[in-house]
Amino acid sequence: MDKLHSDIFSFQLSLKNDMQYHTPVLLDEVIKNLAIKPDGVYADGTLGGGGHAEAILTACPTCRLIGIDRDGEAIEYAGNRLKPYADRFTAVRGNFKDIDAILDGLNVNRIDGALLDLGISSRQIDSAERGFAYSADAPLDMRMDKRQSLTARDVVNGYGEAELVRLLKEYGEEDFARGIARAIVRGRTIRPIETTGELARIVTEAVPKKFRFGGAPKKTFQAVRIEVNAELDGLQEALQCYIDRLKTGGRLAVISFHSLEDRAGKTVFKYNATDCVCDKSLPVCVCGHRAGVKQICGPVRATEREIADNPRSASAKLRVVEKL
Ligand SMILES: C[S@@+](CC[C@H](N)C(=O)[O-])C[C@H]1O[C@@H](n2cnc3c(N)ncnc32)[C@H](O)[C@@H]1O
Repeated sequence: MDKLHSDIFSFQLSLKNDMQYHTPVLLDEVIKNLAIKPDGVYADGTLGGGGHAEAILTACPTCRLIGIDRDGEAIEYAGNRLKPYADRFTAVRGNFKDIDAILDGLNVNRIDGALLDLGISSRQIDSAERGFAYSADAPLDMRMDKRQSLTARDVVNGYGEAELVRLLKEYGEEDFARGIARAIVRGRTIRPIETTGELARIVTEAVPKKFRFGGAPKKTFQAVRIEVNAELDGLQEALQCYIDRLKTGGRLAVISFHSLEDRAGKTVFKYNATDCVCDKSLPVCVCGHRAGVKQICGPVRATEREIADNPRSASAKLRVVEKL
């Protein structure tokens, strides 16, 4: 076992011994493909519980890390966890899409690498009172950033039926979007839908019986969560900002958990890795576009062993590019 893999292995063991921490998804693959440089400056745009962040800081004892999260609880939790690295770790509460302003505010011009582990954290799902999980009954909230006013309750009770159909189809890829939207609108005319349990029951009853296995409300909850947190708005533009901020040889790693996030990464990475982006019908190149990155890997999936340990990793896909 080489030094890097032995460090990762002992880090994973320490995570297993400390059950308050969830093992980060695709940890080994992220650390290997970020190819962390001594004295390098890195950004983790989705700090969460700080698992990937700690592995980055451990993989190279001289690198510096800026950890961003819009969830105040994540910042507090990861901030405590990463106190031993305080001389080279900075936590920023903010939206990773504001990377330009965040780096400017820290007087950082270019970075050697960045990680975006998109979506919600296990801690957020497991905190029933945050309203992300359909397996627990709690107020319909789903805000990653509690400073924002829009909640899942507002979406579920305030959006018109057509709008609900659109987001269920687009963000949830839900086959029964029309029936579910109709049931939600019917349900809320009696009284507002206040809790995750009420929403889960309405959705389950709107799905034909033979399709109710494996969590019928899952896609609806995903769609509402994406809408509440505007997760896909400006994602492609944000990925472009991260690429623009990389030094030559710097790497950007993106982990996605559903096809819409993955499509955003794939599109931006492909565009940046392509020389000419002219319409195929043109006989000669008129765009002058030149590839600015090369694809390092992707999509990398979790191993069967990781999926058995952490079923959430089953849908994870890692893509990594390097700045030319
Ligand atoms: C999948 S978790 C990251 C887990 C983390 N890699 C770890 O090792 O614990 C995603 C985190 O990103 C945060 N997040 C999602 N979208 C964000 C955004 N646009 N800006 C900042 N943080 C965001 C969420 O609040 C959540 O804490």
